[in-house]
Amino acid sequence: MTSAAITGWGKCLPPATVTNDDLATFLDTSDDWITSRTGMKERRISHVGVSELAYVAASRALAAANMNAKDLELVVLASCTFDSMLPNASSKVQYKLGAKNAACYDLNTACTGFMYALSTANALIKTGVVKNAVVIGAETMSQPIPWMDRSLSVLFGDGAAAWVLEASEDGSGILAERLGCIAEARDILAIDYGFTPPGEPRNDLCHWNFQGQDIFKKAVNAMAKASIDVLKEAGLKPSDVDLCVPHQANKRIIDAVAKKVGIPAERAFVNVHRYGNISSATVPVAVVEALEENRMTPGAYVLMPAFGAGLTWSATLMKWGDRTLPYRQSDVELPPCSDSGLELIHKIMADRGEPLPTKP
Ligand SMILES: CC(C)(COP(=O)(O)OP(=O)(O)OC[C@H]1O[C@@H](n2cnc3c(N)ncnc32)[C@H](O)[C@@H]1OP(=O)(O)O)[C@@H](O)C(=O)NCCC(=O)NCCS
Repeated sequence: MTSAAITGWGKCLPPATVTNDDLATFLDTSDDWITSRTGMKERRISHVGVSELAYVAASRALAAANMNAKDLELVVLASCTFDSMLPNASSKVQYKLGAKNAACYDLNTACTGFMYALSTANALIKTGVVKNAVVIGAETMSQPIPWMDRSLSVLFGDGAAAWVLEASEDGSGILAERLGCIAEARDILAIDYGFTPPGEPRNDLCHWNFQGQDIFKKAVNAMAKASIDVLKEAGLKPSDVDLCVPHQANKRIIDAVAKKVGIPAERAFVNVHRYGNISSATVPVAVVEALEENRMTPGAYVLMPAFGAGLTWSATLMKWGDRTLPYRQSDVELPPCSDSGLELIHKIMADRGEPLPTKP
């Protein structure tokens, strides 16, 4: 039976970093509070738009798969911070890659975006519509963040990662998946953004509705249930899972999901301390890092639960293929950045006409 094997992978993290101590220079917060409540230590701030991060990650994934861009048939870009809505941002990635034979579409389910994008590309490959695809999760969460709101601005970061999928008969790829949405709770994680009908209030990218504790509980329950369901469907036990790579929104959420599903803590991959929550990019970045750190073994069973605004939820169980090393490296790089993370935050705030932050 044809499956979609993952044959290439690449990440792109912008270089400018903001530590918890940097945030404490202008917010009433501390490294202690952020570390103990979230597990986060630092996050990246991008000096380029989402499509540039996505392009670099996709170039690296194509090199890892040893695939020529002209042979690519599909580009799927998942994000909730697109740098262009019309035309779609994936067309810019297709153009920059020189992947002129590829169809392209954008997808937004917030933090679950990469998992939903992976699901659609997997289905198109399995049904023979395309033979291969590059699936990308890319975010510049620094753009809509209300930087002076400590309950939000410590949580998110920027970055991207991409995987190449190819039709294969080797039995690797997605084994089982669940996708869903708790739409009655859609307002507990929302940014006013989009076109409004006449007479309704104007949108404001920086106006967030965010009920962290409620999201936390719903995230844990939905990810755990979906994980248990996919394991059951695949006829596997929690002890069969070689690596759990969950959405990285909070270390305490990761620990709670692993405990509920019955996965030992040492089998849950965590990199939230390095990047914070990069929304749709968290799981693909974490899988790339698991490969780099030799935590992905040939034939490994990998469980990937995720959760995001919507409130969308998902769990994806995959079997890794034989290869854990890239065929080759790409020489594509981001343009250089001379600004520090704090300087980039100041620029974002200045662009919005907001006063520059001062010491609390
Ligand atoms: C956001 C989150 C880390 C907050 O942790 P929490 O333990 O629930 O903390 P609370 O919101 O109850 O806040 C506790 C106190 O810390 C304060 N606080 C909030 N942010 C703070 C910060 N950055 N620094 C210091 N204090 C902070 C609050 O004001 C509150 O003070 P009070 O008790 O005097 O009112 C946690 O709820 C969470 O991770 N939620 C889900 C994350 C999420 O939705 N991610 C996006 C979707 S995937």
